[in-house]
Amino acid sequence: PEPGWTTRSDVVVIGSGIAGLTAALRLKDHVDKVLVVTKDVLAAGSTQWAQGGIAAALGEGDTPEEHEIDTLVAGAGACDPDAVRILVNEGPEAVHELIALGTNFDHDVDGLISLTREGGHHRDRIAHAGGDATGAEIQRALIEAVAAAPEIEVVQHALAVDLLLAADGGVAGVTLHVMGEGQRDGVGAVHCRAVVLASGGLGQVFSQTTNPSVSTGDGMALALRAGATLRDLEFVQFHPTVMWLGPDSHGQQPLISEAVRGEGAFLVDFEGNRLMKGVHPQEDLAPRDVVAKAIMRRMLDTGHPHMWLDARHLGEAFWQKRFPTILATARSHGVDPVTDLIPVAPACHYASGGVRTDLHGRSDVPGLYATGEVACSGVHGANRLASNSLLEGLVFSRRIATVLPGELRPWADPVDDQRPEGLVPGAVRTEMQEVMTSKAGVLRTASGLSDATALLDKLAGSPAELVDLESWETTNLLTISAALAAAAMLREETRGSHWREDFPERDDARWAGHFDAVMVDGSS
Ligand code: SIN
Repeated sequence: PEPGWTTRSDVVVIGSGIAGLTAALRLKDHVDKVLVVTKDVLAAGSTQWAQGGIAAALGEGDTPEEHEIDTLVAGAGACDPDAVRILVNEGPEAVHELIALGTNFDHDVDGLISLTREGGHHRDRIAHAGGDATGAEIQRALIEAVAAAPEIEVVQHALAVDLLLAADGGVAGVTLHVMGEGQRDGVGAVHCRAVVLASGGLGQVFSQTTNPSVSTGDGMALALRAGATLRDLEFVQFHPTVMWLGPDSHGQQPLISEAVRGEGAFLVDFEGNRLMKGVHPQEDLAPRDVVAKAIMRRMLDTGHPHMWLDARHLGEAFWQKRFPTILATARSHGVDPVTDLIPVAPACHYASGGVRTDLHGRSDVPGLYATGEVACSGVHGANRLASNSLLEGLVFSRRIATVLPGELRPWADPVDDQRPEGLVPGAVRTEMQEVMTSKAGVLRTASGLSDATALLDKLAGSPAELVDLESWETTNLLTISAALAAAAMLREETRGSHWREDFPERDDARWAGHFDAVMVDGSS
């Protein structure tokens, strides 16, 4: 649709979690104007929900090199080693900057930052806040800093629909669909010289996810339509311990942080057998994909819809102090972790792939940068190491801010949009999520993926009657689902979080590279 209003800003940041707000705060002193656009309220994204914490080599005896090794091992041969080196080396300083900004991490009796352990880490390396409310505390500190920065304008309740492109194919602006915000209501356009995508992940592709409802792959789909390359979409991480709420529960599900296992909880089956004994030397703290697969295998072998997490021995006082949020959430669902086993099953948690970027967050569309979950910087490979996600957003947003002001494009007029239009109705979302969950989720086969692709093709032919948020989001989800299923079909091996039942081994000789997705004639 034609924009009903226009405005200008040097830089538009799309998204308001740790990646977006860090980028805005670091850019504000180096460009004339920064506009932050967010689809809901500032705190609605995934950062707010992060429990376990943020990983960095902060502890006595720990080193970036050890963090690097753990990250590379978890990534199963698919990480970019240069990106990983940057992450682990710049991580500690970036976390100290968060502290200087006002983030209150938990401290031990000696006044040092408390560090815990999660799957795949060989050291206690995870800083946390409020026990298990790390993301909420980081988000609070960032929002307060943004509120105190008059150089940053914020537009809430605004979906970034598409990039406006200049004649050279680079960024000229972005169209927004703003919902209920007075003067700037409806579809409008922001002319700009750079866009920083920090819009998070795609969890709502699947029926059950730890992601909030706003995680609908909008940034990835927008980038794809603008000509950017997406990478590693098949590597979607399923968190092993998501509270199982029954067979009919859909949408965002409660996460039981890996940190609960880091503090001594363990997985058991319906007979009380320890699930991870003999499966991996790190047992319940094996990398996330190993634990998720062990749970799924036992579920399939026994026909049970979930397994159990036993954390009763931690006791009421420890639960109250260390995991107050999880305790309250579990109790609100009728499970008391102090006296009961917690029913858990894997659910979609994190997209390791996304918009392909270089080491400074540049995509291959001039003027388009990406950071955080929407990006594929190469740090996660085939399986993100626990608590590296907040860190990635922080570190790579800082890096974008070091180069972007010097690379601002000249103001350019957008050219006529030649991209094919076509929105699907929100009504197809549930069917799409169900086929993605059953055929392109934790367990994949060629025949399942081809069934999924056929259904996605069919759904793509349903025209939307309403041009509204629901149809835009569902169209984005469908675009990304199709690219994800195609990449999963191409990768005929099992690696990290990509599990092919018909190709159960990792095959470095054939599949050590990456799959890139681009848009051709309206299809990815
Ligand atoms: C968790 O707390 O288990 C999640 C941490 C993460 O996803 O890195």
